[in-house]
Formats: sequence, C-alpha cells, structure tokens
Amino acid sequence: MATHALELRAAARITLQTDQGPIKVLPAPFVRNGPPDQSHFHRKLLDLQFSSGCLLQEQLSRLSMVEEVEDLGPTAQNVLENPRATAVSWNSNYGTHGWHRYVGRFPAHVVRALLNHFGADNRSLVCDPFAGSGTTAVECRLLGIPFVGIEICPLSCMMVRAKAAFPAEAALLRDLGESFRASYQERWHRFVKGRRISAITHAEVLDRKGNLVPPFANFERWFTPAALLGVSIAVEIGMSHEGFAREATLLALSSRMRSIGNIDVDVVRAEYSREPRENVDVGRIVVRQLHKMAADVAACLSSHAGVIGSPSSITLHEGSVLDVNLPERSVDHVITSPPYGVEAMSYLRTHLLSYRSLFVHLGHDPYGTRDKTIGSEYIEETFAHGEHRARRVSPKCGQFFAASSAGWDSRYRARRAAMLQFCDDMLAVGERLARWLKQNGRVAFIIGNKRLGEDVIPMDTIVTELFRSCGLKFVEAIRHKLKTNNSNSQVPWQERIIQEESILFFTKTRGTE
Ligand SMILES: C[S@@+](CC[C@H](N)C(=O)[O-])C[C@H]1O[C@@H](n2cnc3c(N)ncnc32)[C@H](O)[C@@H]1O
Repeated sequence: MATHALELRAAARITLQTDQGPIKVLPAPFVRNGPPDQSHFHRKLLDLQFSSGCLLQEQLSRLSMVEEVEDLGPTAQNVLENPRATAVSWNSNYGTHGWHRYVGRFPAHVVRALLNHFGADNRSLVCDPFAGSGTTAVECRLLGIPFVGIEICPLSCMMVRAKAAFPAEAALLRDLGESFRASYQERWHRFVKGRRISAITHAEVLDRKGNLVPPFANFERWFTPAALLGVSIAVEIGMSHEGFAREATLLALSSRMRSIGNIDVDVVRAEYSREPRENVDVGRIVVRQLHKMAADVAACLSSHAGVIGSPSSITLHEGSVLDVNLPERSVDHVITSPPYGVEAMSYLRTHLLSYRSLFVHLGHDPYGTRDKTIGSEYIEETFAHGEHRARRVSPKCGQFFAASSAGWDSRYRARRAAMLQFCDDMLAVGERLARWLKQNGRVAFIIGNKRLGEDVIPMDTIVTELFRSCGLKFVEAIRHKLKTNNSNSQVPWQERIIQEESILFFTKTRGTE
C-alpha cells in the first residue's frame, strides 16, 4: 500500500476506553467514510461494545464495525465482509446474511454490536421472538452463541434455518449444485423431448408428471411456460431431498425469483405491467446460486474458525410469539425487531410468487396466519371496539388514542384500530419476554415510529411504558434511522411511513410470579 494511504489509515485509528485499558482500533471503512449524520450513531455502537465490561481481551476479534484491532489484526467480521476501502455504507449481506431479500431486515453490524454489548457467549441463550430472515440467528451462529427464535411466516422460517443452521461443510452445497444440474437437465429433456419450447403451454407444465406447483391466480402472467417448467422441475428436485438440502435448494430458487418471474417487489402489490421474463434458464440460475451459497459457507467457516457454533445451537419455533411457550427464566438476552405496526402483511406479500411456487413445502402463505400476524392489516372489526389494555397501562398510548373517532374516514379508523391492537400485542410480548428472561437479562428492542394520518405515533415511548409495566426496566434509547443502503432490505414506501427508529434497551429487574 502507498505510504500516503498507510498514513491516512493510521490517522483514522481511534482509541476506545475499556475496563482493561485503552484499545486502538481502525473503524470499518463505512464508519470512516460514512456521512457525518451517521457518525454519532456509529461511535455509540463502537463504545457500547465495551460499556458493559463484558468483552474480554481474547474476544476482540468479534468486534463489530471495526476493520482491525491494534496488535491483533483484522476482525472476523471484516474478513468475512471484505469491504472496499472506499465503502460509505454498511453492507449487511456478508456470509449467509444476503441469501434472500427481506424487507425490514436489520443490519447485521448492529446485532453483532449488541451481542458484544450484552457480553453474550457460548453459555448464553439469545432469543429473537420475531426472527424474520434470521439476522440475529446468523450472528449467534457465527459467534457460537446458542439461539432460540420464533417466527410465524413459513418462508422466513426456511430462511432462518438455511442461513443459520447450515451444516459445517461447504462441499455439501457444491455437491447439491452439481447433482441439481444433472437432475434438472435429465428432467427437462425428458419432458421437452426435442420440441421447440414455444410449443409448450402452461397447462402442459402443470400436468407434468412430478410437478408439485399448484395452479394459482394469474400464473400465466407471472411466468412464461419455460420459466414455469424450470420452477416446477426445481421444486420437484428440492422436494426429493430432506432437511437442509431441501430448504437450501428451495431457498436458492426463491431468492432468485425476481430473475425468473414477472415480479416487482418494489411495489407492494403484485403487478403485471410487464410481460413475463423471456429466456430464463432456471436450472443455471439455481446452480449458480447454490455454488455462491457454498462459497459463503466456506467463508463463514474460515473467517469464524474456532468460534462458530454447531447447527444444533440454533432452535426455531414456527408459530406466533403469543402461542409459543419458552421455559421461564431460560433466556439471557433478547435482540429483536417486531413489525413496527400495521403493514406487516404488505411486506410479507412481497414474496407472493415464492409462497405460490413453494406451496408444497411451505404449506400456507401469510394470509393463512393473518389473524395471528402482529401488525396485520386484516384485523377483525371487533378489535376496534375492544377494551385495549395498552391504553390503560401506557399513559402515552391512552393520550395518543384518546381523540374520538367521530368523523374519521373508514381507512383511518381501520388503521387506528390496527395500531391499537398492535399496542395490545406489544404488551403481551413484553409479558412473555419478562417471563422467559433470567433475572438481569437484557433486551434490545428495535422499533420505528409510524404515521397515523398527520401524526407520528410515539411507539418508542408506548413500548417503553408497556414493557416497564411487565418488570422490564428501561435503560436507554438510541435513536437513528437504521439505513443500510441495502436494497435487499428496503422498499421505498417504508421510507414514507417509518419516521424514525430506536433501539430500546431494557433489563429484567423482577420476577413475574
Ligand atoms: C421486522 S421483521 C423482523 C426482521 C428481522 N429482524 C431480520 O433482520 O430479518 C418482523 C417479523 O415478525 C414476524 N411476525 C409477525 N407476527 C408474528 C408473530 N405473531 N409471532 C412471531 N413472528 C411474527 C413477521 O413475519 C416478520 O418476519
């Protein structure tokens, strides 16, 4: 490296104060080069990792947002992420994190910083009751921390299992890719029998012996017959396997759905403004994705050698957080982000084509559990007239929702009712977390304040008051818009309705008996 560049790097080093004395670190490139409005938040996350005095000298390689530590060298995260020196925004797609697009995914760097802040290690149990696409689960696996998650959506559950509980051999995925290639070609030729592909119809594909994709609304507008045939064969091959091999194959297919079907997930609803994609080679797309996944697993294993946990350290319950029961006082720390209020169904719907195509494995789409989905837009009318415990427990909630509903239009009334229901659900979540946590257990709860008409709902304060009533002592809030510049986790409409986001910290202070 040129002398000038070395000097610049040396100047970028900062000193973090720790219990064990000052430590010099070189912040990650996106911290060094990032926009000034993020620097406070970044610095806070750097400092937080030492503020509990939990991070031991030998654990410095698990620091987050740090390129290298003096006398130690690069951190494991930096080796895995391998960011460009010119990066200005964090990229949360390192390792297996980027295996599937997911709206509402939080940055892996934040999760790692929080795990360090809490001092979680291989003797701790970390819980994410809204596991989503598995960011907390993946970070726990990489750092060898036992994890238990809960998630209601079957596609998300598949993501969590594949991304966090992968077997510790990358060769398995490479072999899976190769055997997929052979099976795919054999099935394709057996069906096409030398005919021109344009002569094949959708109906024929759906009647194909071995097809497991059920007919669904407008399927001929989503896929060309050739793309439908490719998807049908890929699903058939995936379903011929069990466990991880099955889910990895189906996940590889699902993650590339935007290159296969007529789907534009940047709008909430399925749109057919374009013609279905032509000349799509599903076989090649899936094989390439499986090979990429093999390389990602190999990178995780080598960058986190000696730390990474076993697949069995990751447990996931598929169901609602309000139905699953974890043992009392079994959890050390909670790191989670629930839906931020109404619109949960909208962002789950961005994967509609995957739900339809993989129905045979997933069993249902999010509409199947919409009554249990927190933040669902489809709540029962009766909820609107319910008593709403949250209004009594949280003064802020009571105040905000006090205005009478006379004169409001029905859309506003429905949104208001759904938001109130959401507050009640947050209270029920707080009660459960308080039961599951050990004494002095810690919670990091990431929540955003959404709009209701002209007003912004102070959900951060409401959740703080609700959780406090459950025996979770509020410690502090860090306010920030968790913007990752990562198109894999955002859709434009989110920007408009989520005003600001906070990381709320709590400690369990008393028993709930
Ligand atoms: C904001 S996302 C979490 C994203 C996650 N932090 C990540 O990085 O991928 C919220 C998740 O809560 C899930 N969810 C909604 N209602 C639920 C319920 N009743 N029980 C468990 N999970 C639920 C949704 O399916 C969604 O995946």
